[in-house]
This record gives sequence, C-alpha cells and structure tokens, in this order.
Amino acid sequence: MARFRTLDDLDVRGKRVLVRADLNVPLKDGLVTDATRIERLAPTLEALIARGAKVVVMSHFGRPKGPDSALSLRPLTAALAKAIGGRGVSFAADCIGEEAKRVVAALRPGEVDLLENPRFHKGEEANSPEFARALAELGDLYVNDAFSAAHRAHASIAALAHLLPSAAGKLMEAELRALTAALETPVRPVMALVGGAKVSTKLDLLHFVIGNVDVLAIGGAMANTLLFAGGTEVGRSLCERDMADNARSLLALARERSCRVILPEDAVVAAALEPGEPTQIFPIDAVPSDMMILDVGPKTVDRIVAALEEARTLVWNGPLGAFETPPFEEATVAVAKRVAALTRAGRLLSVAGGGDTVAALAAAKVTEELSYVSTAGGAFLEWLEGRELPGVAALAVAPGDAG
Ligand code: 3PG
Ligand code: MG
Repeated sequence: MARFRTLDDLDVRGKRVLVRADLNVPLKDGLVTDATRIERLAPTLEALIARGAKVVVMSHFGRPKGPDSALSLRPLTAALAKAIGGRGVSFAADCIGEEAKRVVAALRPGEVDLLENPRFHKGEEANSPEFARALAELGDLYVNDAFSAAHRAHASIAALAHLLPSAAGKLMEAELRALTAALETPVRPVMALVGGAKVSTKLDLLHFVIGNVDVLAIGGAMANTLLFAGGTEVGRSLCERDMADNARSLLALARERSCRVILPEDAVVAAALEPGEPTQIFPIDAVPSDMMILDVGPKTVDRIVAALEEARTLVWNGPLGAFETPPFEEATVAVAKRVAALTRAGRLLSVAGGGDTVAALAAAKVTEELSYVSTAGGAFLEWLEGRELPGVAALAVAPGDAG
C-alpha cells in the first residue's frame, strides 16, 4: 500500500477541514437504526474538534437522481451531534455555493457543520473537476474518513483529494492498516473464510484470495457450486450449475498456487429454508435429492477450526450457512466464537467485512473481539478483489514527497 498522511501530519488549528464521511446509514422514520458508521467516525471528529479545527462534514446518502428531500442529510445532524457528545451541528442545505459558504464562514474553531448530500449534484458521481473545486472552496484541508465509499471515483472522494492538502482520518487509517496487515504483509499461514450465496458474484474475489492465502475455506451456497463442479450431487440446494467451469478453474488455480481449499465434507440439510425446520446431517456425498444444504455440518466446522488453530491471519467474508434463518446460523456462530477466542489469545489476527458477515458476527456477539471488523461492504469486497480503490489512491503521497 502506498504511503498516506494521517491527521497527525496536518496542522488543523483554526483551519476549515473538509471531512468526507460515510453517513450512508439505515434510516427509518427519520431515525438512524444502526449508528455504527457514525460512531466509528466520531474519533476523527473529536480529534479535529480538540485541535481547534472548523469541521465541515460531507457524505452521500442513498442514490438520489438529483435533489431529493427523502435523501437529505438533515435528519442525520441529530445522530451526528449525539455521536460527538451532544455538541451542536449546523446544517448547510446545499453542499456548494453561497448557502454552504455562509454556514461554513460562521463556524468557529471546534464547531461542526454538516453539508447536504453531494449526490444532489451531477458533478459528484461524474468526479467533475468543477464540482470538486466548488467543494474545495469550503475548506483549507481535506480528510477522507470514508473507506466504505472509497471504491467510488466521485468528486468528494477522488478529485477533491488532489485540490487540498489531504490525509486519511482515523477510521480510514484503521481500515487500511487492518487490511494491509491481513493481505499485503500478513503473518503466515493466512487463511480466508469465504461464504455467501453465489460464486458468480465473488469470482474476482476468489481469484485474488487464492493467489494470496495459504488456506481457503468455503461455505455458504457458493460451496454447493464448487462441490457440484467436482461431481458431488447437491440435491435441491442453491447451486449455480452454469458456473461449474468457472468453479473448476478456480480449484485448478488453487492447486497451481498451493492454496489448500477446504470444502464442506458434511452438511446440515432440510426440506425447506424455514425457521425451525427439522434438520438432518449428511456426509456431503449422501445429500438426498429432495433436500437442501443449508449449513455446513459439524465435521466441516471441526476441519475449519483445526485450520484456524494453525493460521496466524484470517480474512473472513460471508456466512457459512443460511444464517438469517435459525438453526442454520449454528456453524457460522461456532466458527465466529472460535475466531474470537483465538484472537483474544493473541494467536490470530482476524479481519472481517461485508454486510452479511457483519450481521453474522453481531448475531454471534463477537464483533468487538475480532482484530478488525470493517464497516464497508462494497469497498471491502473490492479490496478483496485486489483492486485499487480510487479514494485510497487519491490519498497516496508520492515517494519523495515530504508529506
Ligand atoms: C455503502 O453504503 O456501501 C457506501 O456508502 C457506498 O454507497 P453506494 O454503493 O451508494 O456508493
Ligand atoms: Mg492527494
């Protein structure tokens, strides 16, 4: 990973600091239902406030096609204020132009303003230089703390970073350090745990992971596709039969790259994906043709746990079973608890991310016990595909630049 500046490299006192945040949080009836992203942003805002910066926060919200009151950031001022100890947060009803300038000009050191949704302007998603210049007029310095939006080459994420002295915020810094420790300079052996429904949506991810880890354990319905590709009958289970060739190439690549692949050897099977449905456990080559695989079985959990005991680094994306429907969360929860215990014991560096994964870890009550759980969905996946993220690239300090 390239070198980037952090908050400690900026002299923010009395300066207007534009902070690109990701406040794209779930909102119901005007109330935030999961404030995790806001809470994780708070340390950056607190640090800037404590150092006497004039803090100007901006974030997209939803995917508006133009100005759209239903996707205004205004209802988030209260949640933002709460996350920073109840300090007042002013709001600018536009993120550029006279209204924004007026509100920002009124800020005193240590005060915070929130700008309206930049996606109300076409220039944002177009990464327009003019729009970025209009944003840049509101700040002296730029801090990006939105790793979870870093896969978007949008003006407030990419173009703007080049117009002002820029740095990574604390959350961005923590994300980048965790992901670098897990995949770029890991302590080996490195294990990846990949689950989820479809191979087709994770082909690039599996490719990259196979090239970079020592052991890959696969669960979720995507394992059915790999098993099917190897000649195992999976009954009525979810399975992408048309992906069999891709699955076989992935397995061939794993052999070539000496990446050990752990596929399910037994399965929790039921007639339907319904809560409380009677279940049976079958060896993977004996799944009845009228039944569905809905979780990995206990022998598979044992194998995964044995591999975890030997691993020093873990990257985890995707649940091992249909975890939203009990009892098909059991394997995921059992493995999550083991990962937490090994991490606590200092034997494993564990990094996890992706919407379903975060929900599964929360259900297992171990979120706080892993080394790092990313708040990013798409950006985490793109990182796991080995792609350069525009928002991260824009923060890079050129070699030789004093920074
Ligand atoms: C997210 O919620 O994953 C990020 O905020 C990115 O949102 P987007 O997919 O609308 O760009
Ligand atoms: Mg830059």
